[in-house]
Amino acid sequence: MKYQMYDLIEKKKRSEALTKDEIEYLISGYTKGEIPDYQMSAFLMAVCFNGMTDEETYEFTMAMEHSGDELDLSSIPGMKIDKHSTGGVGDKTTLVLAPLIASLGVPVAKMSGRGLGHTGGTIDKLEAFPGFQTGISEETFLSNVKEHHIAVAGQTKNLAPADKKIYALRDITATVNSIPLIASSIMSKKLASGADGICLDVKVGSGAFMKDLEEAKKLASTMVDIGRRANRKMVAVLTNMDEPLGFAVGNTLEVMEAIDSLKGNGPKDFMELIYALGTEMLLLADEDLTSEKAKELLKDAISSGKAYDTFKTFIEIQGGNPSDVDHIEDLLDASFVVKVPAEFEGYVKEIQAEEVGRASMILGGGRATKEDVIDMSVGVVLHKKVGDTVKKEDAIATIYGNNKESVDLAMEKIKDAYTFSKEAVTPKPMILEIIK
Ligand code: URA
Repeated sequence: MKYQMYDLIEKKKRSEALTKDEIEYLISGYTKGEIPDYQMSAFLMAVCFNGMTDEETYEFTMAMEHSGDELDLSSIPGMKIDKHSTGGVGDKTTLVLAPLIASLGVPVAKMSGRGLGHTGGTIDKLEAFPGFQTGISEETFLSNVKEHHIAVAGQTKNLAPADKKIYALRDITATVNSIPLIASSIMSKKLASGADGICLDVKVGSGAFMKDLEEAKKLASTMVDIGRRANRKMVAVLTNMDEPLGFAVGNTLEVMEAIDSLKGNGPKDFMELIYALGTEMLLLADEDLTSEKAKELLKDAISSGKAYDTFKTFIEIQGGNPSDVDHIEDLLDASFVVKVPAEFEGYVKEIQAEEVGRASMILGGGRATKEDVIDMSVGVVLHKKVGDTVKKEDAIATIYGNNKESVDLAMEKIKDAYTFSKEAVTPKPMILEIIK
């Protein structure tokens, strides 16, 4: 054996930096099962306390990226663009951005995840369309991007397997919460997915992984730095996740809101995010473009119906029925549709996004464990957002459920999620910072 794992743990405990060679040994040994969980756990805990240098974080990422399959997108002409969100409540952004950007001729090749806990995953939302295939072959993925500029697929089993194993260990050893570990975990999967340009949407706030702006900035710049070192074009947008995004939370309900948005009727906060991320994605693809021109192109793609048509094509080429896009409300099958009354007059001060996400989960719209089966039709539609005025007779939200008991529990969660104020409230800006 080239190194002793004991020595590497000792080194990190003393806050010393590991070499590229040592990191490669560590990642490959652990992936192959030659290094046991208890030693890897000790190492990860030492990283939580002592951090990693930029060089170490980069090498840790590269070693995880190279631990399994890597998608080669080089046969597709043009700058292939990917986006990634660190996860939020009501985050249906990919459903709108992917066809919007693709409709402008920029190839979008995106690997997405499933939801776990209070945040939803794009792959689950797309499965609201009967027949839609997220497990398409690499060949179909590549040919769809070549021909239609768009493909969204679930991560293959063998994408960054080192990260999969390490993440599962971090989850049960209280070692998730470390910026170099989070940044390398996310970036190893993004880099293995093969895009030339990556736009990161780093959520900040009560409903996000990162509750604090300074921490989120550190995470964003660490990921941007890793991507640059790996010769990718990078941008990170820090965005507000103090309240759910848009109004809808739940799979089919979010798809409905995404379709409305593609038709030009999206919620204000959501469209602000779409235009900000969309602009950055177009700038990654074409550095001669200005922000103003990019935004104009995006608005035109929506008002002309081009983005909507691309979404229909996308659903069709991945096995769904494009006419479901025109009649999406027919797919909603909830036996209880119940309004949540306002119990206060004044202004909405806060909406705890995490609580709204949990309400949707209780209704059956999310997973507590990987094996849970999702009810596509359930969820919550908010009617009042932060800053809105509320009167006693107003409904603050509507709950969609298929089980009376869970509807009652969700009702309590939604009521708890809201706080009100007698004084007017100004909502936080959606875009907090852009890191390039
Ligand atoms: N998401 C990931 O993929 N990895 C992390 O470490 C945290 C969030």
